[in-house]
Amino acid sequence: MSEKMLYVSKIKDGTVIDHITAGHAMDVAKILGIAGRSNGGVVTIAMNVPSKHLAKKDMVKIEGRELNPEEVDKIALLAPHATINIIRNYKVAEKKEVKLPKIVKGIIKCANPACVSNSNEPVQPKFYVENEEPLSVKCHYCGYIMEKKDILKQF
Ligand code: CTP
Ligand code: ZN
Repeated sequence: MSEKMLYVSKIKDGTVIDHITAGHAMDVAKILGIAGRSNGGVVTIAMNVPSKHLAKKDMVKIEGRELNPEEVDKIALLAPHATINIIRNYKVAEKKEVKLPKIVKGIIKCANPACVSNSNEPVQPKFYVENEEPLSVKCHYCGYIMEKKDILKQF
């Protein structure tokens, strides 16, 4: 395939999540609530696409939708090298690299039922990122370690 050819067509308005580590497209689809049920716009999922920066990458294109900050934070957890492109009238209107912070607050819950963050105390869940890929995070309160599969269950 020549460099001038596109694997998937350009979109008019919406979001392109690019540079997803190969194998993680379905995780991103799950975060966005597009796994297995339709919610209107056209969604294109491309896997194992050759890339300049990575050996292979996955891509998710969603027409007619821009992501909210919570969705972007969740994507950073499971695809820490992704680029989020907002497309308006065929042009890249905004380009944002996601960033996985060292400390994750609020978006995930501790999987240990006995953890103080799961009691009725007003405690915000807080985790230290121990490893980016494969993901592992450690609870600030109880030390419980959660991996990608534990986190995906919550999304
Ligand atoms: N894209 C799209 N529809 C458009 C415009 C862009 O689907 N109307 C896609 C492109 O195919 C690419 C991504 O959005 O996958 C980002 O576009 P662009 O910034 O033009 O590509 P690159 O320069 O390759 O991006 P980067 O520098 O982030 O690698
Ligand atoms: Zn905990």
